Order: sequence, then structure tokens, then C-alpha cells
Amino acid sequence: MSYNDAMSSTDLFFLRRCLTLACREEGSVSPNPLVGCVIVKNGTIISEGRHKGPGLAHAEADAISRASVARLKGATLYVNLEPCSHTDKRTPPCAQAIAKAGITRVVYPFQDPNPKTKGLSDKIFRDAGIDFSRGLLVRESAVVNRVYLTNITSKRSFVSLKLGTTMDGRIADKSGCSRWITGNDSQRFVHSLRFKSDAVLIGSGTAASDNPQLTIRYGRKRKPVTRIVLSREGRISQSSALAQSAKDHPLIVIGDRVPEKKAAILSRLGIKLITCDPRDWETLLAILFTQHQIGRVLTEGGGEVAGSLVRSGLADEIILIVAPKLLGDAAVPSFRGLDFPLSEAPEFVLFRKRKLGSDFALHYLSRRTACLPDLLKP
Ligand SMILES: NC(=O)c1ccc[n+]([C@@H]2O[C@H](COP(=O)([O-])OP(=O)(O)OC[C@H]3O[C@@H](n4cnc5c(N)ncnc54)[C@H](OP(=O)(O)O)[C@@H]3O)[C@@H](O)[C@H]2O)c1
Repeated sequence: MSYNDAMSSTDLFFLRRCLTLACREEGSVSPNPLVGCVIVKNGTIISEGRHKGPGLAHAEADAISRASVARLKGATLYVNLEPCSHTDKRTPPCAQAIAKAGITRVVYPFQDPNPKTKGLSDKIFRDAGIDFSRGLLVRESAVVNRVYLTNITSKRSFVSLKLGTTMDGRIADKSGCSRWITGNDSQRFVHSLRFKSDAVLIGSGTAASDNPQLTIRYGRKRKPVTRIVLSREGRISQSSALAQSAKDHPLIVIGDRVPEKKAAILSRLGIKLITCDPRDWETLLAILFTQHQIGRVLTEGGGEVAGSLVRSGLADEIILIVAPKLLGDAAVPSFRGLDFPLSEAPEFVLFRKRKLGSDFALHYLSRRTACLPDLLKP
């Protein structure tokens, strides 16, 4: 097994196609990885597949099922993650299915860091005489699966921090009004970010000032998304849009000093209470992932939540939607409580930018997220 340079441009092309297929299911597969698969014979794609969600066929099985038995013999299979080989799940193992189908070459970027899978396909492929190559398109593939890789390697939810700001970095005017800094296209974009997440999180300040619903109301695809409010004492009004919709859309309050009487009210409203210090992001994100299967949390809170997340070093990516407006010094800043000398300023890596009407969405990855490929064994 090693990567052969002579094959690189063709292999790159088909692996990129796998990523395109994988990304179509963003928002549907959590806590599983995004995986696409392409089967190629004599330079032509004979079949494609993708994983569409937990309990459903893996990308490789999906692609294999779409090609005739005869055409699969001697074909090359491309997939953007090591094929699984363990039986401890609802779907059958893919490495064995690939060998059984008579596929003779497999190309994927890196081993799956999930200890149940990592490296186990090597023996199956070797025993079946399958030539397998790794090490190509590692960075792009790691970024596509940044949520899964963070979940598996850090055992916590991945955090996407989103803020709608003015050109001078303000998220509300001096009276606290933030509706609407950004335009219609941006608001629709935020709903698509919610769809790609398992939970949307704010602090009690935003819950009180904006009275948001935090549901998905635009876009082709809808799903229930868990709403989370951080408040040490469980500050959330009973008449708020969030509390009033808790029986239809899951709502969690996270606090460590919630009086018993308040806890009883929350429970009556159908609000789940997690007792944890909401300023302890590490513990909170570990609880959300390991106990509530929340792979990705989108924070839409105000400046206090944004500032404390950045201070904790756990903002895995920041999505700033910048409107061509200015609000001035007295308006609400994006990140409260930060005070870094330039030499220690946390740095982010620009990943993508997108025009949304007259706004711009700037998508930054934290250094840690951008360096995920370095944690992986090709
Ligand atoms: N433009 C935008 O994108 C945007 C988005 C959201 C909000 N806003 C604006 O921002 C303003 C509200 O800002 P805000 O800073 O008060 O809202 P926030 O950050 O959503 O809420 C802050 C409150 O959350 C609680 N909290 C619990 N755990 C926390 C933690 N780990 N880190 C930070 N806070 C935690 C604290 O109250 P407890 O004492 O209850 O624990 C804290 O006072 C409003 O004017 C709103 O319109 C703008």
C-alpha cells in the first residue's frame, strides 16, 4: 500500500467527486461521517453512492448495490474515508462487501480514526489481493469531515460560532436592537446552517432581548433541531417563544444554579434541564456529544457567549456575516471580554467566503480545525 504519483490526477478527480456526493448529505448523517463513493471501470464511472444517515446504507454499499455484479469485477472504488470493517452496527461491514464484489483497487484519503475501524480494512484488502492507496486529498477530506473527526478524536460536540455583524464588528445597536443587521439572503443562509447542525445555542441575554424561535423555517430541507439556552440560574421567560414551543421543538436549558422552583417550571413547560456550569465549555460540549448525540452545535448567542467561547479555545469555526453598515462605539461588540496582546491573538484560517445579497459570509476555521489532517494517519 502506498500512493502512486502516476495515478494522481485521475484519482484526485474521482476522490473530489466522492466529496461532492458526501456533502449533499450535510445535516443528515450526524453522528456519522459524510461519505461519498464512486466506482470506476476503464476510466468511466459505473456507479455512485452516498451515506444518507444513521442506520442507512454506507456509501460503498450504496454504490455497490447500483452496479451489476459483472461490472464490479476488476473495478476501482473511491471513497473519502476508510471503509468500515466492524460488525458492531446496524449496517454490514463495507470492506468485506468490497472484497466480495471482486473490486481490485480501493483509493481513500486516510484511515478512519474511529478505533472500531482504524486500519482494520488493511488485512481484509491484503487477504483479498486488493491494491489499496491512501494519502491523497487528505486536507480537503478532513475539512469536509471536520465535525465527525472532532467528535471522534475529542469526544465532544463541534462548535460553529455564527454572528451577524456590521463592518465595525457590532452585533446590535446601543439599545440592544439587532433586527435586522443582515439582509434576507443572510437570514436564509442562517437557516441552512441550522439545518447542518444538531443544535442551536444562545445565552440568556439573547433569549431575553430577541425572543427568538431558533427553528428552521426556510429552505428545502427541514428537521427538528435542538435549541439550547445557557443560563446559570435558568433565566428564560415562561412566555418566550422558546419556552412556548418547547413541547414541539426540543429545548434544553443548561445551568448550575437553577432553583428547584424554577426547575419544576421548566419541566412543566417540557424544557429539559442539564445541570452543568455553562461557562465550562469543555464539560458542556462533552455532555452534549456523549449524552445527547449532538455532533455539531451552532452558537447564535450574543457577545458574551461568543467571547467566552473564543476564550475557551473551543470555537472550531467562526462564521461572520458582515453587513455593509456601521453602528459605532456605543453599539454591542461581537466578542465581549477578550483582551489579547497582538502576539497572543487567536488566529483563524479563512476557509470560504460567500456573497449574500449585500452582505458577505466569512467562514473561518480555528487553527485546530485546520490542522485536523495532522492528527490523521494516512
Ligand atoms: N447580531 C447577532 O448575530 C446577534 C446574535 C445574538 C444576539 N445579538 C444581540 O446581542 C445582545 C445580547 O448579548 P448578550 O451578550 O447579553 O447575549 P448572550 O451572549 O446570548 O447571553 C449572555 C448571558 O448568557 C448567560 N451565560 C451562561 N453561560 C454563558 C457562557 N458560557 N458565556 C456567556 N454567557 C453565558 C449569562 O447569563 P446568566 O446569568 O443567565 O447565566 C450571560 O449574561 C442583544 O442585543 C442581541 O440582540 C446579536
